[in-house]
Amino acid sequence: MTSLHLDDLSQLNDGHECPAKFAVIGNPVAHSLSPQLHQPALDKLGLNCRYIKVEVPEGRVAEALDSMHAAGITGINITVPHKFEALEACNEVHHGASLMGAVNTIVFDEKGHKTGFNTDGPGFVRAIHEEFGVDLGDLRIALIGAGGGAGRAIATQCCLEECPQLVLANRTVSKLGTLRESLSPLLHGEKLEVPGDRLQTYALDEPALSEALANCDIIINTTSIGLKAADPSPLNPALIEPHHLVYDTIYNPAKTRLLKAAESRGARCANGLSLLLHQGALSLEYWTQKEAPIKAMRSGLQEAIKA
Ligand code: ATR
Repeated sequence: MTSLHLDDLSQLNDGHECPAKFAVIGNPVAHSLSPQLHQPALDKLGLNCRYIKVEVPEGRVAEALDSMHAAGITGINITVPHKFEALEACNEVHHGASLMGAVNTIVFDEKGHKTGFNTDGPGFVRAIHEEFGVDLGDLRIALIGAGGGAGRAIATQCCLEECPQLVLANRTVSKLGTLRESLSPLLHGEKLEVPGDRLQTYALDEPALSEALANCDIIINTTSIGLKAADPSPLNPALIEPHHLVYDTIYNPAKTRLLKAAESRGARCANGLSLLLHQGALSLEYWTQKEAPIKAMRSGLQEAIKA
């Protein structure tokens, strides 16, 4: 499916019988799998509308949202690099999204009033439950790549779930200072006694990270290492133990070096397809107030990945 440029919005419904009502914006946006995820769900719900992709240049997100609402769009997904600009353009922002500093879902009311949500964090909770049958809030968590946007959203959600321990690691450790300051106040509830601080930060190459990881239940990769076939594992495989759950937010390739290493170390692992699925399902639920047809969304995604 081709994408439309913001400047061509007037052609939104040219040659189509049913109107576009939902869209993803990004720059670039052509690679987005959101239509393959959402269209089968809209069809299954009998909503008789289309989900489209719109390329929006940086600096024009607020304008895009208003123009798209005027053109009949009622719900929007936001992808890289627009999640912060989208947050700023909203009239109201859900608490979680404002803590994450990013909005990936916008719901319009009839007057065009925009409410922003972030479904990446809550979608991740559902993904972990589906993949491993456990609650994120019960786990001692290590997050590799906490300096990026995905890392911040997931780290924030881990704190909102009041996990007993959160270990944040990043190549550029200086990026973790402000994140730590904003997350620390969220970890106030009482949880099991754990050795060391409840919130810890490390440089990716720091020797002390090895002991911190050994005490964690789950290792999550939110770095972009693994997107290219030749990429190494973001983590020394020797640090992965059989008791670990390992989740890579990358889904293409389906098995990154990290996941291959995790498997060979005897750890249970999963890739980011379930995160993509569940963040989308939650967006759809915000827009339609209906339970998302997960099965239809999952097969749409699986077909798109195969293609
Ligand atoms: P965003 O998610 O905001 O688009 P990104 O630039 O894609 O950010 O980076 C995501 C994460 O991958 C960051 O934590 C980044 O580490 P830095 O904060 O140190 O830049 C991490 N990352 C990207 N390439 C990396 C590499 N070669 N080695 C280690 N970490 C890397």
